[in-house]
Amino acid sequence: MTNRMNRRTPGTYAFLAFLMTLRLYGGGPGAAAEAPALPTAAEWQKEYQSRRAMVLEKLAGLSKEGGTLFLRAPEPATFANDVEYPYRTDNRLFYLCGLAQNGVALLLSTKEIAGLGKEILFLKPEHPMDALWVGKPLDAQQAAAVSGIPVASIASLDKLGEVLQKAVGGSPHHFHARSGNPPAAFFYNFKKPFGPGEPVSEDYGFLLKHFGSRAFHLDLRHPAVLLDPFRQVKSAGELAMLRTAIETTCKAHRLAMQITRAGLHEYHLATEIEAVYRREGSRGWAFPSIVGSGPNSCILHYQRYDRRLEDGDVVIVDIGAEFGHYAADITRTLPVSGHFSERQKAVYQIVYNAQEAAFRAIKPGLPFGEVNRIAKDVVAEELLKLGLIEKKEDSGRYFPHGTSHGLGLDVHDPMPLDTLKPGMVFTVEPGIYIPQESLGVRLEDDVLVTEDGCEVLSRSAPRSLEEVERWMRTGSF
Ligand code: GLY
Ligand code: MN
Ligand code: MN
Repeated sequence: MTNRMNRRTPGTYAFLAFLMTLRLYGGGPGAAAEAPALPTAAEWQKEYQSRRAMVLEKLAGLSKEGGTLFLRAPEPATFANDVEYPYRTDNRLFYLCGLAQNGVALLLSTKEIAGLGKEILFLKPEHPMDALWVGKPLDAQQAAAVSGIPVASIASLDKLGEVLQKAVGGSPHHFHARSGNPPAAFFYNFKKPFGPGEPVSEDYGFLLKHFGSRAFHLDLRHPAVLLDPFRQVKSAGELAMLRTAIETTCKAHRLAMQITRAGLHEYHLATEIEAVYRREGSRGWAFPSIVGSGPNSCILHYQRYDRRLEDGDVVIVDIGAEFGHYAADITRTLPVSGHFSERQKAVYQIVYNAQEAAFRAIKPGLPFGEVNRIAKDVVAEELLKLGLIEKKEDSGRYFPHGTSHGLGLDVHDPMPLDTLKPGMVFTVEPGIYIPQESLGVRLEDDVLVTEDGCEVLSRSAPRSLEEVERWMRTGSF
């Protein structure tokens, strides 16, 4: 980092950041691979249809009574008075129908219901003010084109109660196990039913409203059990979405490396990073950006962004764009001065080596838990050598989180439950945090399990000590 850079005011840096972005798009070290071909609307429609078919098949296989899956889009959350947070629907609902608007519900059942079929979509009736204030929601024809559910199976949300009654049917006695008519499984996203003195949750209250006391006799099961195993292996279309979100995030990382210098604040980095997302066609972040410098590098999910960057600090940049509902999650740790100190290098290299050990081990058949164990073991060994701990079991003091989580529609996507399979995508994110030195280092990459190993999807974000320092120097033009 040159003095010339340090003399620039924050007012001028935004323009420089923009110019640097233009350079990034031209390629150079860390340049992205060619953009993957994204699925067409027709391909997505087919994919939603085949996902629903898989669910119906699994429901049918549960018992001779079959079962029902019922998913509801959440209500918009209030930001202030009549202002809402940007809307984001339920990922399981989106996974099965591709509809992102509010006021949507989906019922999949092993039996035909109310002449509407086995796959029924509900849409909130359009409000007369929608067109003027927020824009019209998709109508039945448009929703059919997205989801592949025919218009004849799309009903107004006003009819939901009536249809649900028919789906579940019967009197309370009908369900009683002793009647010889055990209830069919009813998959529904509920928080645990109320206990004495506890309020009824909104989702359970919804069941009571529609089923009354029959709700107590439902064989309630969580949709995660049914759906999440399908979500662990990504389709070609999903991989294209993930690759796009990840490449956008890598671009943001490269820009962050170029503009980082003493005198900026954490919020400058967060702002420029998130601007890259928007420029690249992403809705925004997949989780609030984490940009923590100096002591804040030891706060795992730090999001206040109010500290000034100082020479000698490291800054942890843990960020992810969301593209078409798919999330990236990539972390780099940068030296604010452009050069790591010897101590910072030593800690950084351990974290890097832990990642490398995990990458070498990842392949089909490896138990998912091994990824964590392998990375943790490298860190524990080295913390011993540094004298920070006296026995390996104490490594959690400086490495207090797991190494991996699934990545997909959720930034913390359903985890591989057992052994790795080709098509799974997850993070590898070891870290070491030494609060007494204001030194936190985390590296996080997104990996795809391949037929014989893994592909680091986020490799275009510079990662080795040398690459990071070299890339930071390219900002001083
Ligand atoms: N960005 C949050 C995490 O790494 O899990
Ligand atoms: Mn993560
Ligand atoms: Mn992260």
